[in-house]
Amino acid sequence: MERKVCVVTGSSSGIGAATARLYAERGWNVVINYSREAAPAEAVAAECRALGQSVGAEVMVCQANVAEDADCRALAAAVEARWGRCDVLVNNAGTTKFVGARNLDGLDAEDFARIYAVNVIGAFQMVRALEPLLKRHPPGAVVNMSSIASVTGMGSSVAYAASKGALNTLTLSLARALGPAIRVNAIAPGLVETPWLQNGMGAERYAASVQGYKARAALAEIIQPEDVARAAWYLGVDAVKTTGEWLAVDAGAKLMPM
Ligand SMILES: NC(=O)c1ccc[n+]([C@@H]2O[C@H](COP(=O)([O-])OP(=O)(O)OC[C@H]3O[C@@H](n4cnc5c(N)ncnc54)[C@H](OP(=O)(O)O)[C@@H]3O)[C@@H](O)[C@H]2O)c1
Repeated sequence: MERKVCVVTGSSSGIGAATARLYAERGWNVVINYSREAAPAEAVAAECRALGQSVGAEVMVCQANVAEDADCRALAAAVEARWGRCDVLVNNAGTTKFVGARNLDGLDAEDFARIYAVNVIGAFQMVRALEPLLKRHPPGAVVNMSSIASVTGMGSSVAYAASKGALNTLTLSLARALGPAIRVNAIAPGLVETPWLQNGMGAERYAASVQGYKARAALAEIIQPEDVARAAWYLGVDAVKTTGEWLAVDAGAKLMPM
């Protein structure tokens, strides 16, 4: 059997990096993608090579800004040239602006456009670019990295929460459009321990957020990137009869009053 291929966008850090490591460890060829900084991507690639070495899994690093359609198509062309297939696409790259929900003047149209360009349009462009490869050895699968913000309306900003709501709807539309050859699902993580929130909030607010989250989550925990990676494996590989779904990985935070 030919080795399967997983493309993980935004995989030089956090959730994407953990997902790439899991697929590599389980013998898949993986694409590590980033838009700005090559060094962290190369470091994750080295980890994936080490994990996949014993089973012969290969790793490719691709710089691509998912908001740019030409970059998405170039990434797809590189995958086609190297391996000729793509079995799972994890649309994980995301961006935000940290603005309190009551501060409506803190967001303008450009903020919305920039956030939607990555979180919604970027995911769509990656699916469109990889559709032929995802269909080559059906069933292919797409896993969109949404957020619990998509259903609670809470999160780093109103624009971010709205973009993840749109990503959930994109998941439904593409699941309808691309079946039976491609399954399309989403993950809605709660507070995950990655540089994303630590950098965005600053140390003090981040520590307070973690305490607040643990206090209200039914499982009294925050989430680790590896927890989300296991969900990305489940929806990408194991959930063969599931499409058009979103799966919360939030330690039960949405069950409790906000
Ligand atoms: N952390 C959380 O609590 C949390 C909760 C719910 C959902 N999420 C979602 O999970 C995903 C990953 O978050 P994370 O916490 O793991 O973030 P992270 O540690 O900050 O990693 C973000 C990754 O995305 C890449 N990236 C950013 N913009 C990109 C673009 N336009 N094109 C390609 N790559 C891009 C970054 O690399 P470069 O900077 O080099 O581009 C980096 O590899 C995001 O979609 C986020 O919305 C996170």
